[in-house]
Amino acid sequence: MSAGDPTAVITGIGACLPPRIVDNDSVIARGALHTDDAWIRDRTGIARRRHADPSTSTGDLAVGAGRAALDSAGDLRPDMVLLATSTPDHPCPATAPEVAHRLGLGTVPAFDVSAVCSGFLYALATATALVRGGACTTPLVIAAETYTSIVNPSDRTAAPIFGDGAGAVLLRAGTQDEPGAVISSDLGADGSGSDLITVPGGGSRHPRHLPPPTADAHYFHMQGRAVYAHAVRRMTQSANAALDQAGWTPQTVRSFIGHQANQRILDSVGDRLGIAPVHRFGNIHELGNTAAASIPLVLADPAVHQAVAPGARSLLTAFGGGLTWASVTLTWPSVAPRTTAPHTDLDTTPLCTPDLSRSHPWTASTTTS
Ligand code: UT7
Repeated sequence: MSAGDPTAVITGIGACLPPRIVDNDSVIARGALHTDDAWIRDRTGIARRRHADPSTSTGDLAVGAGRAALDSAGDLRPDMVLLATSTPDHPCPATAPEVAHRLGLGTVPAFDVSAVCSGFLYALATATALVRGGACTTPLVIAAETYTSIVNPSDRTAAPIFGDGAGAVLLRAGTQDEPGAVISSDLGADGSGSDLITVPGGGSRHPRHLPPPTADAHYFHMQGRAVYAHAVRRMTQSANAALDQAGWTPQTVRSFIGHQANQRILDSVGDRLGIAPVHRFGNIHELGNTAAASIPLVLADPAVHQAVAPGARSLLTAFGGGLTWASVTLTWPSVAPRTTAPHTDLDTTPLCTPDLSRSHPWTASTTTS
């Protein structure tokens, strides 16, 4: 690889967060959970998260994030839409075509990417390969989730962890010496661990018209301790593989963003890679685990953009159900992220504009419930 080689370059960044901020005590009260604020903060790093209203779908959030990314990019028009999600609007069809339609993108190709929490990086790597191969020039990569639609509010191992939200990047064809250039990627999967993160019911193995295997089969289930160990190992290995491909050492990375699963996992991976804490970025404290959306929501975080210089070497890594894992290296984009209200011609309502006057831009906008 050399500086002038063609690749995809991030040229727009957007986010969409439901306005409702829910703190730990509210999650505990809602589910009558046997836990407390201190346990959740100490064991996960999470203080609050966003919850979408039941009337707000993953597609609604995806439209908001996509619109925001397009606004931040100026006049560019996407020629493809990839939507990473494990909480689609329906089992069939995919959510991406309707999102593309609502964004006014006509008949561009649009498809969902299903790799659970690794979904955004799977989609980013796929979109980059399509750009490099000439199949498209300007793909819009969105990751959107409403985990409140699948998490049992009475499950103390999941309800405090997950939140809702969406992030998006618009890519364009460019070269590796530009800020925002995707440099390398590493993807992997191990289906022997497919039972560690599941929604058992509702698919072809346990269709809804038959008696469910268990009463809670429609809810999300995670064997947290086992997932934790896999996540640390796989994200570390995958991040090193992506760095090797790029020809970068961990010591030269100036922004490290891991999937916001658990602050202790992120600390452990950062330590194993040898990346100094000052170069690690995240917002799990504010947003919890938003599955596929978590990495683009850090990319879109205004506070992170104030701290990282355009062109800085950046490393993204994720792990999720499947099992899947993925890492991407890129140079930090020279783009101001946007979180915007919808255009009036879009039938979507859940957008919020962050209040930048408070200490953390995404803590401020709304009520706790
Ligand atoms: O996003 C996709 C990838 N996801 C992840 O990578 C998440 C990975 N897993 C985790 O983040 C953590 O495993 C959890 C946050 C889910 C759980 O934390 P942990 O420190 O791994 O706890 P644990 O599962 O090892 O359980 C330790 C103890 C258990 O009690 P016993 O068996 O030791 O008596 C649990 O029952 O903590 C108990 N526990 C809780 N206690 C209070 C589990 N959840 C809670 C809770 N409050 N919310």
